[in-house]
Amino acid sequence: MIYSRIAGTGRYLPERVLTNADLEKMVDTSDEWIRTRTGVERRHIAADEQSTSDLCLEAARQAFDAAGVTKDDVDLIVVGTTTPDLLFPNIGTLIQEKLDIHGCPAFSVEAACTGFLYALSTADKFVRAGEAKCALVVGAEILSKIVDWKDRTTCVLFGDGAGAVILQPSEEQGIISTHLGADGQYKDLLYYPYGASKELHKTHLPDAKIMMKGNEVFKVAVKTLGGVAEEALRKNNIDKGALDWLVPHQANLRIIQATAKRLGLPMEKVILTVQDHGNTSAASVPLAFDVAVRDGRIQRGQLVLMEAFGGGFTWGSALLRY
Ligand code: ACO
Repeated sequence: MIYSRIAGTGRYLPERVLTNADLEKMVDTSDEWIRTRTGVERRHIAADEQSTSDLCLEAARQAFDAAGVTKDDVDLIVVGTTTPDLLFPNIGTLIQEKLDIHGCPAFSVEAACTGFLYALSTADKFVRAGEAKCALVVGAEILSKIVDWKDRTTCVLFGDGAGAVILQPSEEQGIISTHLGADGQYKDLLYYPYGASKELHKTHLPDAKIMMKGNEVFKVAVKTLGGVAEEALRKNNIDKGALDWLVPHQANLRIIQATAKRLGLPMEKVILTVQDHGNTSAASVPLAFDVAVRDGRIQRGQLVLMEAFGGGFTWGSALLRY
């Protein structure tokens, strides 16, 4: 049996750092409120001239090096993002052009904070079907450009970044299974109200900001994340105790703690990076994964569960041996 296996990882965070103390000067908030309600301490903000595809480049190059491949080996590019540079060409092709890669399929999937897991699951199927031998899978986001910096209920939560992995075929176990889901009945709890076919033509965009019913998102997120994590273990007949690491979507410390508790996992087995970059949506899982691979916590052969939840709602998990 052929598996797809993560051969290398990379990440990029923009240079500019916005701390909770900086936010205290911008809106009526406090470091204490942000830390206790969300766990976030700082976030990285892209420069005006940077677009989401720019963030992907460094993450991709690091992943190439870690995997021992070059851009010429890449035969598939899949990007999870909700903040692409343009409506078209798709961001996969923009990354392709910037990396001087030609000819391979390149596309993006849009699933809000679950974008990376949707992208990983898609690329996994290409690799296992023998249709790709070196897939670049990226999760990237520049949320700072759609956040309303006067709205304290959302602006303290989000940040910018990119994370990437290279997937290659392997006879050894790699990605064991992925589990995706969605339920559009929750579309009004978390959304951005403008798009290509809806209202973009208007010259005044009074509501051009992320709309979120935070409390309700919180409740469904905790319930769903616990469920999708358990589904991955149950379908593979693997006990929770066998897990070495949980790499959750880095949205909010309290959501992560509640999910870990439901899984009976001690926080020492949970990779936590939300304090350093806030909620980077589709970038958050590969960012956290790369941090833990590079600092030596996640080792080859270990059993890892990734999971995410986002607007839609969408959700997903991936159980893998690194
Ligand atoms: N600073 C200070 N006070 C604030 C701030 C702020 N930044 N934001 C809201 N408040 C106030 C509110 O106005 C409210 O005041 P009131 O009691 O006088 O009315 C009070 O704090 C409590 O507000 P709540 O919304 O009840 O606070 P809660 O404990 O629910 O925390 C939060 C809010 C952090 C948004 C939480 O609901 C949450 O994390 N929800 C999940 C949202 C999320 O993660 N979304 C990301 C996308 S989905 C995903 O990635 C999972």
